[in-house]
Amino acid sequence: MDQLSPPAPLLILGGTTEATALAARLAADCPGIAATVSLAGRTQAARPLPLPMRIGGFGGAEGLARFLAASGTQVVVDATHPFAALMPFNAAEACRAAGVPLLALTRPAWEQVDGDRWTRVHTMVEAAAALGASPRRVFLTIGRQELAAFAAAPQHAYLARVIDPPEGQVPPRLTLIRDRGPFDAESEAALMRRERIEVVVAKNAGGEATAGKIVAARRLGLPVVMISRPAKPAVPTVATVDEAMAWLAGHGCLPTLRGV
Ligand SMILES: NC(=O)c1ccc[n+]([C@@H]2O[C@H](COP(=O)([O-])OP(=O)(O)OC[C@H]3O[C@@H](n4cnc5c(N)ncnc54)[C@H](OP(=O)(O)O)[C@@H]3O)[C@@H](O)[C@H]2O)c1
Repeated sequence: MDQLSPPAPLLILGGTTEATALAARLAADCPGIAATVSLAGRTQAARPLPLPMRIGGFGGAEGLARFLAASGTQVVVDATHPFAALMPFNAAEACRAAGVPLLALTRPAWEQVDGDRWTRVHTMVEAAAALGASPRRVFLTIGRQELAAFAAAPQHAYLARVIDPPEGQVPPRLTLIRDRGPFDAESEAALMRRERIEVVVAKNAGGEATAGKIVAARRLGLPVVMISRPAKPAVPTVATVDEAMAWLAGHGCLPTLRGV
């Protein structure tokens, strides 16, 4: 007779479409899996997930290492956002210290294609400067946390889309839209036309859910100031949930049949 051997406890660092998709897949395919999804707690109303959740920072790499030991976590999947600049390094350091295998699940970046008018920059400060001296109508699709950088370029009229309202400094001529993706190219193009947008500022997040604005800018011939991704630690990395599932199976995280 066969029986299921217990899977190794797993921690998913989340806050992304990929983390949600991985959680849904694990919950559906591996009932009873010992997996927890961790969220930073940035979004006021996080969408519910089909796996146990914990919310809030760990207290740096040392705090995460303590959490791994206390919870008996044996594998970590870093499925944080491509623009999460700190957590991937904390995860790499904590997992190295704790001797816990780490996988990064990260969607590929968008690639520039013929007809795209991208200016590539590395920071929000560079993005604000790249808008130029003359006043323009700017669509900011960067979230709410980094709007302050555009206060340094107050000559422009900004339209910013956010999930929750911004808390810090914002540029003086700012209109907010509160909405949450996915957004398709047709509705993005309609919004850009209606708001007479002249330039789009975007992070190179990659993925399908927010690619509509990039396609819409291409169709309308609008320039895009594209912010490149931050550096990431050198850890095993996959791009899809299927690849992550295969990696997890290889690390004893999925229930496996064993003969008894
Ligand atoms: N940056 C973006 O553009 C963006 C977009 C969409 C979603 N997100 C999601 O929002 C969260 C925060 O993003 P961020 O850019 O502030 O990240 P970050 O700069 O890499 O992280 C800042 C701090 O937030 C805490 N943190 C981050 N992710 C966490 C998680 N999954 N669980 C528990 N604590 C976490 C950690 O605090 P401690 O040091 O105290 O552990 C970390 O040091 C991430 O989960 C990310 O996936 C980010």
